[in-house]
Amino acid sequence: MATQDRSLWMRIREFKLKDYDEAAKLWKESGLIIRPGDELEGIKLKLERDPDLFLIAEEGGIILGVVMGAWDGRRGWINHLAVTPSQQRRGIGTALIRELEKRLARKGAKKVNAQIYQWNQKSIEFFKALGYEVHTDLIMVGKMLGE
Ligand SMILES: CC(C)(COP(=O)(O)OP(=O)(O)OC[C@H]1O[C@@H](n2cnc3c(N)ncnc32)[C@H](O)[C@@H]1OP(=O)(O)O)[C@@H](O)C(=O)NCCC(=O)NCCS
Repeated sequence: MATQDRSLWMRIREFKLKDYDEAAKLWKESGLIIRPGDELEGIKLKLERDPDLFLIAEEGGIILGVVMGAWDGRRGWINHLAVTPSQQRRGIGTALIRELEKRLARKGAKKVNAQIYQWNQKSIEFFKALGYEVHTDLIMVGKMLGE
């Protein structure tokens, strides 16, 4: 599926388990941190829940972008969005997010959020360009379970 001129040959499809090694490599190459739950076993659980929100951008059979979307019944969430460094600024990230937004809206989501480290200016600029509001007054809290 061509989504815009700069990504004419790219298509977006749902992630399959066989994509795991390539996707994990891409996450690492693009600077994302692989966290507990991102190992193969965790990804299997994720695919049982909302496989239609876990998307891949590929060109000529090569994965160039990935996004792990989520729907909690109230909000949509964007996780682990990454585009191969040499292929950035081609509209691939935009195409992935636009497709994810469409799918979330169909499920009934009224709003979609992403959590971004403050140092990740590139990603902040990206989301601003796509019309996302930046909340600098928010702090994320988190806790590991089962420890
Ligand atoms: C963030 C990321 C996914 C963007 O993907 P991308 O395919 O390069 O983005 P696009 O080409 O669709 O960019 C759309 C617009 O976002 C903005 N943008 C994207 N990258 C930018 C950058 N490095 N600096 C400033 N603005 C940027 C621009 O306005 C761009 O439009 P333009 O190219 O016409 O100027 C990519 O930079 C990436 O993989 N970063 C590393 C991983 C990461 O930080 N992920 C996000 C975790 S929250």
